[in-house]
Amino acid sequence: MLPTRQKVLRRFWYAVMPMSDLGEGPKPFTLLGEKIVLFRDAEGKPVALQDRCAHRTSRLSAGRVVNGNVACAYHGWEFNREGTCVRMPQLQDPERTGNFKIPAYHCTERYGQLWVCLGDPITDIPTIPHFGEEGWRCIHERCDVWDTAALRIIENAFDNAHFSYVHEKSFGFADRPEPAPLALRPTEWGFIMDSTVPVRNTDDLTRAVNIKSAKELDRVYEKEWLMPFSVRMTLSYANGLKHIIVAWIVPVDDKRTLFNQFVLRNDTEADSPAADVIAWDMKVTNEDRAILETTDWDVPLNTRSGEERNMPIDRPGIELRRRLLKLLQDHGEREVRRDEPGWTAAAANG
Ligand code: FES
Ligand SMILES: [Fe+2]
Repeated sequence: MLPTRQKVLRRFWYAVMPMSDLGEGPKPFTLLGEKIVLFRDAEGKPVALQDRCAHRTSRLSAGRVVNGNVACAYHGWEFNREGTCVRMPQLQDPERTGNFKIPAYHCTERYGQLWVCLGDPITDIPTIPHFGEEGWRCIHERCDVWDTAALRIIENAFDNAHFSYVHEKSFGFADRPEPAPLALRPTEWGFIMDSTVPVRNTDDLTRAVNIKSAKELDRVYEKEWLMPFSVRMTLSYANGLKHIIVAWIVPVDDKRTLFNQFVLRNDTEADSPAADVIAWDMKVTNEDRAILETTDWDVPLNTRSGEERNMPIDRPGIELRRRLLKLLQDHGEREVRRDEPGWTAAAANG
């Protein structure tokens, strides 16, 4: 599937960066192949416009923000939050622009994140329990672009079969490749996967979860897939700690994906310093990143195509594909692949 070619994916909200990363000036971002410019209006509210000036196509993100409007760096035309051109400095009456528009997108702030929807939203921004509640802290962990498809990252979040290999150096048992069993519960916009996974309690995990006595821990997972590509996973430990990872997986284009992750915890800095929590999750996600960047980016949704083989524990990945295929079909679309109809595995790795 090529996310940039599937129109219904433009109708979901995506968390493209923490609000704190936006700062003062305009910032570029590419969402589903669409170049956008992000900035704050006069009230500090986020704005998303097409990153292309209507005059001579210069990227507006190279400009600056003036009174809550974005001013083009080339000839200074200014555009407001609706994308309306409100000023052309060269005119005798600079405000008499004719009020034409460039495309503006839905844009808002939630959970300290900047959210954009390129189309007409078909669902709300997902609900994240405990965010902002007393007794819970939020730790921002990473926001970076990986060279892999969004679907590869989200599928990996529900893959119980890779721990002994990809995470051999962190929490996996190299000599215990049998995957922990899992159960799936469908939801309106995804599913919930329950599973209990034994993990090695290494020194750095000990610091991150504050359990010193045991060599092995049972990690109880409740992972919720948030269509199309994001995940909220609650990791519960025997000491009562809940480590809720929220990973916003944002398709930049067909080959590149933003990995934007924070964690919610019901403990304190004295229990586990944020730096140790971040270091642990960075280590684990870097292991995932390294392997995912070796995979093919044009992921087939149709599991009967024979391009990829499956085993019984791959059920979540198969369900992901089935539900995404249904989403496309429900909106009158079919799966678009890279080279239709003559696709070959050899070409896909080129
Ligand atoms: S290109 Fe933007 S004002 Fe001329
Ligand atoms: Fe992993």
